[in-house]
Amino acid sequence: MKSNFRELTPREIVQELDKYIIGQDNAKRSVAIALRNRWRRQQVPSALREEIMPNNIILIGPTGVGKTEIARRLAKLAHAPFIKVEATKFTEVGYVGRDVESMIRDLVDIAVNMVREERKKAVQEKARQLALERLLDILIPVPKTPEYPGAMEAAEEAPENKHQRVRERMREKLLAGELDDRTVEIEMPADTTPMMQIFSPVGIEEMGINLQELFGNIMPKKVKRRRVTVPEALALLTQQEAQKLIDMEEVIRDAIHRVENSGIVFLDEIDKVAATGGKHGPDVSREGVQRDLLPVVEGTTVVTKYGMVRTDHILFIASGAFHMSKPSDLIPELQGRFPIRVELNSLTTEDFIRILTEPENALIKQYKALLATEGVELEFTDDAIRAIAETASYVNSKAENIGARRLQTVMTTLLEDVLFETPDSAEKKVTITGDFVRKRLKNIVEDEDLRKFIL
Ligand SMILES: Nc1ncnc2c1ncn2[C@@H]1O[C@H](COP(=O)(O)OP(=O)(O)OP(=O)(O)O)[C@@H](O)[C@H]1O
Ligand SMILES: [Mg+2]
Repeated sequence: MKSNFRELTPREIVQELDKYIIGQDNAKRSVAIALRNRWRRQQVPSALREEIMPNNIILIGPTGVGKTEIARRLAKLAHAPFIKVEATKFTEVGYVGRDVESMIRDLVDIAVNMVREERKKAVQEKARQLALERLLDILIPVPKTPEYPGAMEAAEEAPENKHQRVRERMREKLLAGELDDRTVEIEMPADTTPMMQIFSPVGIEEMGINLQELFGNIMPKKVKRRRVTVPEALALLTQQEAQKLIDMEEVIRDAIHRVENSGIVFLDEIDKVAATGGKHGPDVSREGVQRDLLPVVEGTTVVTKYGMVRTDHILFIASGAFHMSKPSDLIPELQGRFPIRVELNSLTTEDFIRILTEPENALIKQYKALLATEGVELEFTDDAIRAIAETASYVNSKAENIGARRLQTVMTTLLEDVLFETPDSAEKKVTITGDFVRKRLKNIVEDEDLRKFIL
């Protein structure tokens, strides 16, 4: 993969998505264009740039066909801060204190963590060097200056030189792993966070006050001493040094910039807040949620504990099955903000076969890898894979259609015995055949009650 993700062309983005998601070509194309357009927008002269709005998208399609997966993979490709929220969450009774804008606050938190981790990685080498020196200081403390004036001359070798020699020998041992069994005592900043969060009153976040920092600065920094092994000490000290090397203000600035220019909000279950005809009852609150969402999607300023964040250019990808309602049931202003509509197809048996085998994280690959850790080779015949796919399709058609998620339940049921018997059985190779699949699943598939509970 390229290191500069912003340069991926729409075609390349689709190729990357193809590694994880089978089919759904229209949806992939739309999100690829939306992503590339944000990069294009960044290149446009600034006066016009502000005018260019993101291509917000509504993904329409049944459950379990890849809507969330596409958005999630896209965000990874873009190295963009990404958050998934259920629109219905905002209709919940008793949903107080944290309003619709909270998703932007959460997004900023995610971005700050993301940038901080990147920076930490960048200073990792340097931090390790510094940590190594600190660890050596702990392992061989600097010798005290001699007590009487003549001592220095009396010694055959200057104490500094001797100390240096010992230190270098220790360093070699340390790097060679010869000290891995030894323990040392190190100082760690004591964590006072959990208590703070419990007492943080609802709503204080909205005021842009970071209670933790407030208290953290008033109360004396506590340190606690811990005895740990040498490798652990090196890891902990590296963490501490990395923390010191990064400039948190810069991290926050960068994080906010990223949220504003490349943040992605995935608004799941948008169909559930669309009105469905009657203008009374729960529809009122649904429309209320849409009205609450509108300013955030249109562009507003949200106050977060890290500062103000503009939402104008955040990309919103909404998604829903739209069984009971249609996109046209959304309030017009919101419809206008989601100019792109894409339908995803329901998945066929042929799709299931490919989903089982082709993606880089395909289920069959996952189970093979799991059993390989115990020295067992797991094999599936083509017939077996087809039988699994057919079973999933059949159960989807008979019971609720949950799309590719059905493959998970079918696979776990199918492999339960193998997963339980390993490693006790002497079997080093397990081959799953079509007959095995049909026999193992027959009773469950045919019995409606079993089917409901197991598959
Ligand atoms: N087209 C596909 N290719 C590969 N895997 C898929 C595909 N569709 C779904 N999956 C797998 O099925 C699971 C569920 O998919 P996903 O979360 O994208 O569903 P969804 O369309 O968002 O459904 P919902 O409407 O219920 O949110 C994921 O683990 C995903 O990897
Ligand atoms: Mg989803």
